[in-house]
Amino acid sequence: MTTVSVLPLAGKTALITGATSGIGLVTARELARRGARVVLVGRDADKAARAQQAIQLAAGPEALVHVKCFDLSLLRNVHRLAGEMHQEFEKLDILINNAGIMPGHFALTDEGHELCWATNHLAPYALTNLLLPLLDAAGRARVVTVSSVAHWVGEIEPDRNVRNSPDNYSWLTAYADSKLANILFTKELAHRLDLTGITANCLHPGLVDTGLMRPDTSAVMKALWWMARPAMTSPELGAQTTLHLATSPEVANQSGRYFANSKPARCSGRASSAQEASRLWRISAEETGVE
Ligand SMILES: NC(=O)c1ccc[n+]([C@@H]2O[C@H](COP(=O)([O-])OP(=O)(O)OC[C@H]3O[C@@H](n4cnc5c(N)ncnc54)[C@H](OP(=O)(O)O)[C@@H]3O)[C@@H](O)[C@H]2O)c1
Repeated sequence: MTTVSVLPLAGKTALITGATSGIGLVTARELARRGARVVLVGRDADKAARAQQAIQLAAGPEALVHVKCFDLSLLRNVHRLAGEMHQEFEKLDILINNAGIMPGHFALTDEGHELCWATNHLAPYALTNLLLPLLDAAGRARVVTVSSVAHWVGEIEPDRNVRNSPDNYSWLTAYADSKLANILFTKELAHRLDLTGITANCLHPGLVDTGLMRPDTSAVMKALWWMARPAMTSPELGAQTTLHLATSPEVANQSGRYFANSKPARCSGRASSAQEASRLWRISAEETGVE
């Protein structure tokens, strides 16, 4: 008698932003190996094609691996991605907001948003909201957003004009603020989705040896990266908490929480403030035009 083994995520669809390298690539690969249809999002078409090939190789020829190339720092691209998802898929079971950057220098997008804020916060805020009908169509769905322990030093500047000014720009503050926003966004989203089948959680992946700090030219960042490197873990380990939140039955009914090492973790006082979360939601709705 032959036994047919059904993979645990067969029939599920997962979208992973920033799936072309680092933590996102491992996350996408492991979801595909467990049978999920995966949609990889990255900016660079060659990198995305290489990621698709590597995942296909690891997960087998029957694995369903789709690629979408969009620079998500631009809200018009977030809308295009969401539009294509609505056209091509009937439901979305897992959304992983993983794409993130740590730019060493101030830059504004051509839509007038500070680059780190646009990529790390406005994009997941807008994408998640635009994909809610697809998540809802799944019946039970999970939104996982990759934050960071760096949020502890974050403090969100409510005035967009101050945030969008190069005066007083600090790469660390910009990154920490965006990672604090990931947690506040998750908490407010979970609150708004209470009593639906959609959960929202976020996490710190650990200190992981990826490309996050490498492409930048800032000497300080390079020095910090070299100093921290011996303490860094692999992307394989770095993806574990994301995978736990995306797939484990243990967290099926948990929502609005921050995790590290696949366990609930303590976040900063600011990140725990319901008032800050609701204020951030208002600011984000105004800045993206997405409610
Ligand atoms: N590494 C760590 O120690 C660490 C610690 C705490 C939190 N995190 C968080 O973990 C997440 C993953 O980072 P990582 O460490 O794996 O870094 P990574 O190796 O640099 O990967 C970043 C991914 O994001 C994508 N990406 C960047 N900007 C994008 C944009 N504008 N539009 C679309 N995709 C974009 C990149 O794709 P392309 O290059 O193809 O554009 C890449 O696939 C980030 O949110 C980061 O903040 C990392």
